[in-house]
Amino acid sequence: MLGGDDAYFEDLKTKVKRDVTFDCSQYKDSFLKRRFAIRMRATRVTTFRDYIKLLDSDQQEYEKLLDTLTVNVTEFMRDPPVYEAFTAVLRDLVAAKVKRGDKTLRIWSAGCSSGEEAYSLAILLRKTLGVMHRDLSTQIIASDIDPGSLNKAREGVYKKDALKNMMDKEIQIYFTREKDLYRVNDDLKRMIRFKKHDLIREKEIGYCDVIFCRNVIIYFSREQQKDLYMKFYRGLKDYGYLVTGKSETLVGKAANLFKTINHREKIYQKIPRAT
Ligand SMILES: C[S@@+](CC[C@H](N)C(=O)[O-])C[C@H]1O[C@@H](n2cnc3c(N)ncnc32)[C@H](O)[C@@H]1O
Repeated sequence: MLGGDDAYFEDLKTKVKRDVTFDCSQYKDSFLKRRFAIRMRATRVTTFRDYIKLLDSDQQEYEKLLDTLTVNVTEFMRDPPVYEAFTAVLRDLVAAKVKRGDKTLRIWSAGCSSGEEAYSLAILLRKTLGVMHRDLSTQIIASDIDPGSLNKAREGVYKKDALKNMMDKEIQIYFTREKDLYRVNDDLKRMIRFKKHDLIREKEIGYCDVIFCRNVIIYFSREQQKDLYMKFYRGLKDYGYLVTGKSETLVGKAANLFKTINHREKIYQKIPRAT
C-alpha cells in the first residue's frame, strides 16, 4: 500500500464525504484504498496526507477521483449466459401476468452506469415479447449515483467495443451508426427512465417485477450489503426476481427470503412473507 499513513486514510474518507458528499463509509476499506491508489499513482503522490493536500488545491482532481471511485465498467449483454437464462424467466413471468390480466411490467436496473445494462434489458424485452410487447405497459427504471454516467446513458452513444456481445442483426435493428459510433434508437430510449439515485442513502424503488443489480454490491461493506438486499426485497413485488453479479452473494436475512432460480447466473425469486 502507498505510504504508511492510515490515520490520514480516515481523514481522506471524511474529507471526500464532506466536500463532495460521496459517502466513503458505504464502501469496503480495501476497495477504497485500491481506488485512491489509482489516483495517487496518476498524480505521483505517495501518502494519503499529500493526496489530501493535492485535493485542497485541485478541484479537477476531485472529479477524476469521483470517476475512479464509482467504477463504471460495463458493456451490452454483459455475461451473455445471464441474459439467456433471464429470457426463460421473463417468458414465465409474462405468461403468468397475461393469465392474471396484469398488463404492467416494471424492471429496475440499479447501478446502471452508462446505460448498457438498461438498454440490453430493453432489447431483451423487445426480442422476447415480440408483438406481445405492445399489449404490455413496460417500464425500465435505470439508476446510478454518478451523474456523468447517467449523462452518457441518456445520450446513448457507444463505441463498437461496448457492443461486442451483440449480433450484427441486432445492432442494425436497435442502433443508428454515426461514423465509428452507434446511437441507440429513440423507440428503445423511450422504454427507459434514467434517474440519479443512491442505493445506500435512499429508499428503494418500489413495485418492481425484476431488479437487476449487477457488479455494484461487491464494493459495499457487508452491513451495507445486508441492508441493500433487504431494500431489494421490499422493492420487489411478490414472486419478483433479483439478478445479481456473478461474484455477488446474498447475505443477511435476505439469504432466506429469496428462492434460487439459477445458481450459476445468480437469479433469485422473492418468497413473499406469510401474512
Ligand atoms: C461496475 S458498474 C456496474 C454496471 C452494470 N450494472 C453492469 O453490471 O455492467 C457499478 C456502478 O455502480 C454505481 N454505484 C456505486 N455506488 C453506488 C451507489 N451508492 N448508488 C448507486 N449506484 C452506485 C457506479 O457509479 C457504477 O456506475
